[in-house]
Amino acid sequence: MIRQDQGVFFLDTNRTGYIFRISGQGHPEHIFYGTRLEDPNIESLLLKRTAGVGGTVAYDESDPMYCLDILPLEWSGIGKGDFRESPCEIKMPDGTFVTDFVYQSHEIIDGSVASEILPGSIAKAGESQTLSILLKDKLFDIELTLLYTVFPAVDVITRRTILRNRSGRTVVLRKMMSMMLDLPASVSIRTTFHGGWIKEAHKQSEPIGNGIYVLQNTTGASGNRCNPGFLVSEGNASESFGRVYGFNLVYSGNHYSAIERSHQGSVRVMTGINPHCFEWPLDEGAVFETPEAVMTFSDQGFSGASGHFHDFINRHIVRGDWKDQERPILYNTWESFFFDFSKSRLIGAAKRAQKLGAELFVLDDGWFVGRKDDTAGLGDYETDHRKIRGGLKSLSDRLKRMKMAFGIWVEPEMVNPNSNLFRAHPEYAVRISGRKESYGRNQLVLDLTNPAVRDYIVEKVSGLLDSADITYMKWDMNRHITDMYGAGLADQGMFFHSYILGLYDVLKRVFGPRPHILLESCSSGGNRFDLGMLCFSPQIWASDNTDPVERLSIQTGLSHLYPLSTIGAHVSASPHQQTLRSTPLSTRFNVACFGVLGYELDPKHLTASDRKEIRSQIKFYKEHRRLFQYGRFLRHDSYKDNKVHWQVIDPKRDVSVAGFFNLMSHASEIPDILPVSGLSPEREYQIKTVPKKLSVRRFGGLINHILPIRINPNGFLFRLIDRFYSLTDCVESYSGTGKALMAGVRLNTPFIGTYYNDKSRLLGDCDSNLYQITSL
Ligand code: DGJ
Repeated sequence: MIRQDQGVFFLDTNRTGYIFRISGQGHPEHIFYGTRLEDPNIESLLLKRTAGVGGTVAYDESDPMYCLDILPLEWSGIGKGDFRESPCEIKMPDGTFVTDFVYQSHEIIDGSVASEILPGSIAKAGESQTLSILLKDKLFDIELTLLYTVFPAVDVITRRTILRNRSGRTVVLRKMMSMMLDLPASVSIRTTFHGGWIKEAHKQSEPIGNGIYVLQNTTGASGNRCNPGFLVSEGNASESFGRVYGFNLVYSGNHYSAIERSHQGSVRVMTGINPHCFEWPLDEGAVFETPEAVMTFSDQGFSGASGHFHDFINRHIVRGDWKDQERPILYNTWESFFFDFSKSRLIGAAKRAQKLGAELFVLDDGWFVGRKDDTAGLGDYETDHRKIRGGLKSLSDRLKRMKMAFGIWVEPEMVNPNSNLFRAHPEYAVRISGRKESYGRNQLVLDLTNPAVRDYIVEKVSGLLDSADITYMKWDMNRHITDMYGAGLADQGMFFHSYILGLYDVLKRVFGPRPHILLESCSSGGNRFDLGMLCFSPQIWASDNTDPVERLSIQTGLSHLYPLSTIGAHVSASPHQQTLRSTPLSTRFNVACFGVLGYELDPKHLTASDRKEIRSQIKFYKEHRRLFQYGRFLRHDSYKDNKVHWQVIDPKRDVSVAGFFNLMSHASEIPDILPVSGLSPEREYQIKTVPKKLSVRRFGGLINHILPIRINPNGFLFRLIDRFYSLTDCVESYSGTGKALMAGVRLNTPFIGTYYNDKSRLLGDCDSNLYQITSL
């Protein structure tokens, strides 16, 4: 995995190679990151310094060609001639900002080196190896350790840094990244994931021009405005072809990444804790650890890089009893009831959901005293017995008799001023004395930098979990942090990071002793979808937006960085509550099944044919649950702008499901080709449309063209027929070798108003099909 030969370090995974050396002056010089080279020729890979570049500063007089500004580096300081963005800004003991960390020693360690305070990757014996490079500032006794952990089987290398102050005086950290890397000029595109509430993780790909592009969040969480994960690639890279580098950070707070194209064309990438409002005094002997950064490379395009991330997360990030386990199909009360329910309505919904096939009943917001809306109650979590007679235990017992597991919603990091907690402990809320505080969703943030607050939350949530038969918890966080102040902090520049360390401490104490609880993290949907939370919560609620068309963008974006086993995806009512878009029930399922499936619509309002359809959806999902949660997920490029193509395939390549999604229909569409990949080329497969029901309602008066009688499309009879009957779509079936099918499957002509027959694909706006591929 890791070897050192004549001052050159080789970090190999099964398919990737990462090479750097210690330069003659002691700086870690990056040489190569790409497809693994069995016999690398270092001389041919090294950046040549055969002429000086005008306008640069020589590091010292011994070598006029040695200019840090043009050297590809693994780390760089400030004030020694590298004028690109620096990964660290430290106020040194002499009051200057100049740092120059040079090589002292190194160590190759079997396994990973875990942080004491930050969550990070885990590995079994033999699964990882770590290279520790010790650097020291040339003037002061300040040590910087660069840690590289190699995970060969999943083609990932992680990096983090540790700074130790032995200078005898206090230094102040103003910026301390987890990693830095200089990539060659051929890297030309950056792909990042942006959005906001109900529009998370929208993919954005843009050329990397000169200058610095910053990806960051300042809301106190990793955030939905900009996910910490990103990729950079060569210009011709597609979903299945080309050189792609991926980066992410195991951190849930304000993050910062910079992508900088230098005047010499190289592309510097760095990621870590956001320096925004960050200031960390480090006394003599003290140590500062940064969160773990994750890197991968693939020459198989974006889906290739995503596959590495997916394997890494499933094997080395998610932990506890739910690691690698199939997740239950849940029914969540939120979109059906919001705050307005009674025990009998809950039991009614649970019974109906259970009959449809749901396995876990999740009681969302609204179950505790004061929670008739979002103005009161956060902080207290005392069951509202007027809503839930007999309390949570009696509800969980009842569900147990129905063979349904029970889960509950909480928002422990928050407090409403209208709560007993706030009345007793106003000092627990984050705010600044003398300054009027700002509110989000009528609530304040609890000060997780304060140990007493953390103890309170640990006790409250642990007590709740132990009070009934609870096997799942949804941990929500519904506002951004403002008025940052922690009374116990030596420097207010420590607030944001200390808050996140406090959160990790609480999560560790609550869920460490209860590994059987399936935790689903949520923050107004996907406002904290990150690797730090995934160390505690095996799945995350991706978005409050459950409109399937919107979800295609959201889940496509998230799938670049996170596996399907982590993405909570629910089927909800149509028209959709946020977009007012009407979509077929089949499409709502066809999108949600590429993730951890749940239902959030009120089962009381389903027609008989809807119920029948949902029962068969859930049956199909249960039959293929492992495939949908842990299979290899592939995104396919489309040659049409109104189509999205997803595919999931099991590791043995026996079974696969391809999703074909039509956004807006075009008149007289040119033929569709279903892209398929990942099959064994020589084996025989059958590909067949998963039968789909079409609601009669969608066809209005057109129904009269196929019925022997004429009926009024707005009449009672029509509505009655719709309640009990649905139309079936055409089913196509083809067989051939994997190689033949991977050439693309030509599909039947979609309905275009003429020659309707049983071979017409009825594909309106927002329609979709699943195709099941089975080896013969
Ligand atoms: C925001 C979440 O994203 C929703 O799913 C729901 O749990 C509400 N909070 C409840 O207040």
